[in-house]
Amino acid sequence: MDSFFAIRTLLLLIPILFLDPIIALDYPQEIINNLYPDLVSNGNGTIAIPPAEPAAPPPRNSSSLRRALFVVGDSSVDCGTNNFLGTFARADRLPYGRDFDTHQPTGRFCNGRIPVDYLALRLGLPFVPSYLGQTGSVEDMIRGVNYASAGAGIIFSSGSELGQHISLTQQIQQVMDTFQMFILSLGENAAFDLISNSIFYISIGSNDYIHYYLRNVSSVQSLYLPWSFNQFIAQTMKQEIQNLYNANVRNIVVMGLAPIGCAPYYLWLYDSPNGQCVEMINNMIMEFNFDMRFMVEELNHKLPGANIVFCDAFEGSMDIIKNHDHYGFNVTTDACCGLGKYRGWIMCISSDMACGNASNHIWWDQFHPTDAVNEILADNVWSSLHSSMCYPMNLQEMISQKTK
Ligand SMILES: *[C@@H]1O[C@H](CO)[C@@H](O)[C@H](O)[C@H]1NC(C)=O
Ligand SMILES: *[C@@H]1O[C@H](CO)[C@@H](O)[C@H](O)[C@H]1NC(C)=O
Ligand SMILES: *[C@@H]1O[C@H](CO)[C@@H](O)[C@H](O)[C@H]1NC(C)=O
Ligand SMILES: *[C@@H]1O[C@H](CO)[C@@H](O)[C@H](O)[C@H]1NC(C)=O
Ligand SMILES: *[C@@H]1O[C@H](CO)[C@@H](O)[C@H](O)[C@H]1NC(C)=O
Repeated sequence: MDSFFAIRTLLLLIPILFLDPIIALDYPQEIINNLYPDLVSNGNGTIAIPPAEPAAPPPRNSSSLRRALFVVGDSSVDCGTNNFLGTFARADRLPYGRDFDTHQPTGRFCNGRIPVDYLALRLGLPFVPSYLGQTGSVEDMIRGVNYASAGAGIIFSSGSELGQHISLTQQIQQVMDTFQMFILSLGENAAFDLISNSIFYISIGSNDYIHYYLRNVSSVQSLYLPWSFNQFIAQTMKQEIQNLYNANVRNIVVMGLAPIGCAPYYLWLYDSPNGQCVEMINNMIMEFNFDMRFMVEELNHKLPGANIVFCDAFEGSMDIIKNHDHYGFNVTTDACCGLGKYRGWIMCISSDMACGNASNHIWWDQFHPTDAVNEILADNVWSSLHSSMCYPMNLQEMISQKTK
């Protein structure tokens, strides 16, 4: 049964397998407007300018404003941005979303919820809408906005071979546009309160390895040794955090990178013998996380009033992999959805490729964890529930310290 679907899908895919397993996806979507990355395609060749109309009268007083959650990042937290872009990096078809609240695909690269969904709930907020998916009114944005775009990296061109994406720098620009709208429609004081009380969650960087360094794009491996590449992207991240601070952002969660050397794609690519993680990749990631943690510590000292926490997703994920029995996972190396060894060879593009029950799997597809893992990681960020992976404190401590 499964093998019938597998063979059928393989036949469909063979012509494009010669390109690259990551982009072996036959969406009718064309990659368009590469020349104009700032513009957004609506999927059939026309251009839609992202909504930016101020609307709605401002709320009466600033203490009626609540804290909001703003999200910047890549596919680890994309909740629908890429549905509006011409790209192969889309999660707008089943089985993506099959275990989500609506049981429908939304653009989340997961069977269910992503970490920021769990965090929004912990913060008492609704799920945060994607920037391109909401109407652009203040009401829609005042509880938070998600700018994350799958395929995006800290480096502008990371992930470009997949098609359009909104890179870190472009996302920060969209954040600034949103702030302008807040100032225009709420007034400076209320906008200041909203921005400085809100939580910013940044989860990006994996694609600078997956789609840039490890692919040796532009001979980058000859130009940069791993440690100097790490330094380079950590510095770029630092600059963007300072830009946010200069715009009155004060509370920031910087997520470290997950152990992508354990992701099914790399287990397949490096022909891992017993599902052992690819150490060369994980060493780079650990070193990068170390640089980021140090950078965050520096910024906390340098920037008055800044509350920046670094959460080491590598530590949290390795704890889950090591103690998988304790967490109820019995499939630790194979993706739930995909084909080939470790189901890491061909990306997840149809329900035929998916396992029956993802809740005992750590990996949902070639690169992304399951809903169950996302919940554990989010609870660690929120309150160190399962393991303590945030420095110098978790999010709940950051918030209660502020309100003291
Ligand atoms: C495609 O274009 C048509 C006509 O311009 C429009 O009615 C339709 O909504 C567009 N489709 C999408 C997905 O935006
Ligand atoms: C401001 O909003 C808060 C919370 O909604 C409310 O308790 C307070 O009465 C409001 N103050 C004024 C002056 O409207
Ligand atoms: C990266 O690409 C350059 C140019 O194609 C090549 O000379 C170099 O050996 C490559 N590095 C690795 C580690 O493959
Ligand atoms: C994992 O556990 C489920 C039942 O909880 C079982 O059906 C499945 O065969 C197990 N898988 C492996 C690889 O052990
Ligand atoms: C999946 O498995 C878990 C336990 O491993 C169980 O609690 C859950 O009900 C299962 N879900 C489905 C849809 O079978």
